[in-house]
Amino acid sequence: MRIPIIAGNWKMHKTPAQAADFTRALLPELASLDAAERVLCPPYLAIPAVAEALASHKGTTVKLGAQNVHTDLQGAFTGSISAPMLREMVEYVIVGHSEVRQYQGDTDAQINRKVKILLDHALKPILAVGESLAQRQAGQAETVVRDQIRADLEGVSADKLERIVVAYEPIWAIGTGLSATSAQANDIIGAIRHTLTELYGASVAQTVRIQYGGSVKPDNMREFMSQSEIDGALVGGASLNVADFVALVRLAIEAKNL
Ligand code: PGA
Repeated sequence: MRIPIIAGNWKMHKTPAQAADFTRALLPELASLDAAERVLCPPYLAIPAVAEALASHKGTTVKLGAQNVHTDLQGAFTGSISAPMLREMVEYVIVGHSEVRQYQGDTDAQINRKVKILLDHALKPILAVGESLAQRQAGQAETVVRDQIRADLEGVSADKLERIVVAYEPIWAIGTGLSATSAQANDIIGAIRHTLTELYGASVAQTVRIQYGGSVKPDNMREFMSQSEIDGALVGGASLNVADFVALVRLAIEAKNL
C-alpha cells in the first residue's frame, strides 16, 4: 500500500509572515487528516517561518519541502541554495519542475545531478516530469515522459528509489485551469511505473509514489485520486488556500479508503 502524498508548491507566493499565518491556520484543520502524507513547499525565504509554525504545533506530522536546489554543494553561485543548507530545514525538495526547466534552463543532466545530490544528503526528491502541449498533440507524451524518467534517474540505485516521489505534471495543465483527464493522467503514470519496472524491477517500482499535478482542485481531486496508479498530487494554486488544501487532503484519504 502506497501512502498518498499531497504536496503544496507555493511557487513565488507568500511572505514569511503570510506563510507562518497560513501554516498556523492550516495545522489544526489537518490534525485528524494524517492518513495521507502532507508537505508544504514554501519559497526558500519562508521556510524558517513555516518550520517554526510546525514546531510550535505539537504532534503535527505535516512535512516541509523546498522548491529547488543548486547542482553544487557550495561556491560562487549568487542567489542559489544548496542541499547541505536545505538538509537542516526540510525533508523534501522539488526538482525538475517545468517552470525551472523552462525559465532557469534546467536540463535532464542537471536534474539528474540534483536528484543524486539530494539523495546523498538524506533529502527526498519530488521529481517532476511532463510533456508540453505540442508534444502531446504530436502523440509524444509517453515517450517524452519516459525519456525524462530514464535521464533524471540515471545512476540512481534501487535502494534509494523508495525515497523518491515522482510528479507527473503535463505542462499544458499547470496553472491553466486545463487539467488532464484522470484517465490521461493514469495512463502516463502507468507508463512511468512501467519504466521504473524496466529499470528497477516490479517490486521496487510498486513502492514508488507517483503524483499527478496540473490544475488540481477540490472539484477534480476525487476523480484523480480514484485512479489506481495515482498516489497523490503536487498542487500549486489550490495549495495557497487553507480550505482548498484541507479539502484536497480529505478527498485523497476518502478516495483511497483510508
Ligand atoms: P497548479 O500548479 O496546481 O497551479 O496548476 C501545479 C504545479 O506547478 O506544481
